[in-house]
Amino acid sequence: MKKIGIMTTGGDCSGLNSAIYHIICGANKRGWATYGILDGTDGLVGDNPNIIRLDKNILPPEQAYIAGSFLRNGNVGQNNNFERAVQTNRVAQFDKQLKKSLAATKLDALILIGGNGSLSLAWKNRGIYSDMQLVCIPKTIDMDIPLTDRTIGFDTAVSQLTHFCDDLMLTARSHHRWFVVQSMGRRCGMLALTAGLAAGASAILIPEIKFDVDKLIKHIKSADNDYGIIVVSEGISLRGHSGEPATMISRKLTAAGIVNRTAFPEHVQRAGNTTPNDRLLAMQMANTALDAIANNETYVMTALQGDEIVTIGLDAVVHAGHTERDPNITNLTISNATVDDENPLLVAANDMGIYIGETK
Ligand code: F6P
Repeated sequence: MKKIGIMTTGGDCSGLNSAIYHIICGANKRGWATYGILDGTDGLVGDNPNIIRLDKNILPPEQAYIAGSFLRNGNVGQNNNFERAVQTNRVAQFDKQLKKSLAATKLDALILIGGNGSLSLAWKNRGIYSDMQLVCIPKTIDMDIPLTDRTIGFDTAVSQLTHFCDDLMLTARSHHRWFVVQSMGRRCGMLALTAGLAAGASAILIPEIKFDVDKLIKHIKSADNDYGIIVVSEGISLRGHSGEPATMISRKLTAAGIVNRTAFPEHVQRAGNTTPNDRLLAMQMANTALDAIANNETYVMTALQGDEIVTIGLDAVVHAGHTERDPNITNLTISNATVDDENPLLVAANDMGIYIGETK
């Protein structure tokens, strides 16, 4: 009987519990035992390694679709955690302890459900996982992991942000005013773009596309409406200005006589009941991850490519996309997917007269 572990790391998102639930179901069907590591890598280097036996009764289907991770993602309050190890230059000791604790679990395979930071780190420190198979499942609301058409959590985040904007649209109309809504997404504008279009935003600013504030102002002033939504991604910047992007844009609009308010949905974008699309993606990725274990694959990530879920090497993932150095961890580069010029949503947005910056 194989013994497999599940670990959720990095920021949470909706869909993690769905993935965990389906891994438990699929492993059970294959006659394997599943274990959950609590609090990600922090849970393994704490005083008592936090690992629990999982079965379907622990996470029934009616609880599998709520947001957050039932296994939790890390313990910032714990003395010996990853963040503190980074701050105090003790990453090498942290990694050594992690390898020792993992070896003690005697797992045959580990399914790591993580974002691009966790995947890059796992590949950089792959020796930690050399005693077992490592299969990763991509999750993030940012949609910034290369080589997969979707990440778990993105669809629910789009839904959360869209509904947030829908609500604001009504109060905007009542007061003849504009709302500048700041989305999450780090350096990737996919969440802002997708939810902004779904909500009927008049303008969407994303880090990948240069914009001109004067043209934005002209666009808003010449709009048919005297109210609406402008979505700005948290990754944009405005030369000569500092502060939150939504606040910078709002000040410019106010100075031009456009009545507006800012709104910050913040971590609500990571919450909300998992959408059916995310549940299905989680189920398919869980299934492919289990198949990969059965096929003796290791250092791979599940990915949606077209209509198919495949596995691709972690080395390919961490070398694809736009790579940048992590500001806090020595010698760690993180690869980011971004919205490219040919993205069909961008093209359609342009054709619909939505201001999305100075596209070609
Ligand atoms: O990567 C997910 C994400 O929600 C980003 O969109 C955001 O910039 C960041 O995490 C927020 O991190 P924290 O929860 O540490 O504030």
